[in-house]
Amino acid sequence: MHHTPEPDATPDPALPADPAVRLAAVLGALTPWPEDGDRADGPVAVDATDRLLLDEAAPLLAAAGPDDVVVVGDRFGALTLGALTLGPATVRASTDAVTAEAALQHHRGEPLMDAVRGDRPEVDVTSFDHLEARLFEGARLVLMQLPSSLAELTEIAEAIARVAAPDVTVLAGGRVKHMTRSMNEVLGASFTDVRASLARQKSRVLVASGVRPEARDAAPAFPARAVLRDAELLTAGTPAGGSTPSGVTVVAHGGTFAGPALDLGTRFLLTTAGKWPAADRVHDALDLGSGTGLLATVLALRYPDARVVGTDRSAAAVASTRATAEANGVGDRVVVLRGDAGEDLEPASVDLILLNPPFHDRSAVRTDAAHRMFRAAGRALRQGGELWCVFNTALHYRQALTRSVGPTVHIEQNPKFTVTRSRRR
Ligand SMILES: C[S@@+](CC[C@H](N)C(=O)[O-])C[C@H]1O[C@@H](n2cnc3c(N)ncnc32)[C@H](O)[C@@H]1O
Repeated sequence: MHHTPEPDATPDPALPADPAVRLAAVLGALTPWPEDGDRADGPVAVDATDRLLLDEAAPLLAAAGPDDVVVVGDRFGALTLGALTLGPATVRASTDAVTAEAALQHHRGEPLMDAVRGDRPEVDVTSFDHLEARLFEGARLVLMQLPSSLAELTEIAEAIARVAAPDVTVLAGGRVKHMTRSMNEVLGASFTDVRASLARQKSRVLVASGVRPEARDAAPAFPARAVLRDAELLTAGTPAGGSTPSGVTVVAHGGTFAGPALDLGTRFLLTTAGKWPAADRVHDALDLGSGTGLLATVLALRYPDARVVGTDRSAAAVASTRATAEANGVGDRVVVLRGDAGEDLEPASVDLILLNPPFHDRSAVRTDAAHRMFRAAGRALRQGGELWCVFNTALHYRQALTRSVGPTVHIEQNPKFTVTRSRRR
């Protein structure tokens, strides 16, 4: 949890008192930061869903008290700063992507905060890393951008229902093309009333209220745990001269990529483990974009003397990677970091990197993050260090890998996936 109160400010007498006018000024000033063309979230700082959510929430925000409002899944700060403008001077917030958190922090240092504050001496956001109980405790209004997966929505809905005020209202907005009836059903498992707003500019808001009494103390569905016995996983997790584990436990929060299972691409990467560097060459190993952390755990099992780092931009992934490593008895050797595309990794500090890069952002195929990860891998590897990457064969990453890291060879290929090895020059 981070608590960063705004510095005291003298209200500007020229500022309009009308919150709706101030909101227009705030939303108009937001930028999609960092605007580098690489953002998986897309270039629009305030989308139609943000605007619809804030319009639907406006009367509830105006009536809300200091500890009432929680924002989940904000993209660039529109919902959080919008809620602060229209509602109480304190808001709790949590975003899965570290990049979204950075965007909010960035905007909080800007002149637009004058319009957010209005005539109040200060406003305050308390940020939470993941869906801990304190995020929703006693909440009476939750604003959220619908997550892309039903599992993530389930985890959020259950977390709200467990500890929010019984009269909590949840406003969950999304693009109509990404919304399914199943989302209503997921919300309906935790709340008695679920209705949909009219669509506006291809966005819609689901409104859930009435916490189901049985949802108060139901066992949480997430994080999900499973013991995997896939041969590729067990073989790759066997150290030289050591014994093969009987199973590898995976712990998956709702927002993780593969859930409590082995992804097909990751499985294909694991089939090449026999060709990865020998243990005497691997002192530091990295799972870049770690998801549930199965690859980080395999690295720690296979190389018992190595230091392993797992990194991901997603809070759900970071929590899962940590829990997966602990569940397999290697928690003390796996350091888990939350960062954007590995950009904050120490240069020339790693001997072996495993990477199954992201290629989907909702339904759009995007490869920006993958290219930034290649560049980060190139910087993080020691000379002679190796990046092992799996990707959809159709993506033809070899040239980009050669440019960003060094000489790249195809190690395995099937019609669906390719595994490459790139050696740092
Ligand atoms: C294809 S999944 C692979 C997950 C895991 N390594 C596995 O094999 O199951 C890609 C991962 O990259 C993460 N990711 C996406 N964009 C990222 C970014 N900009 N920075 C860091 N991680 C990112 C996702 O959260 C996801 O966990």
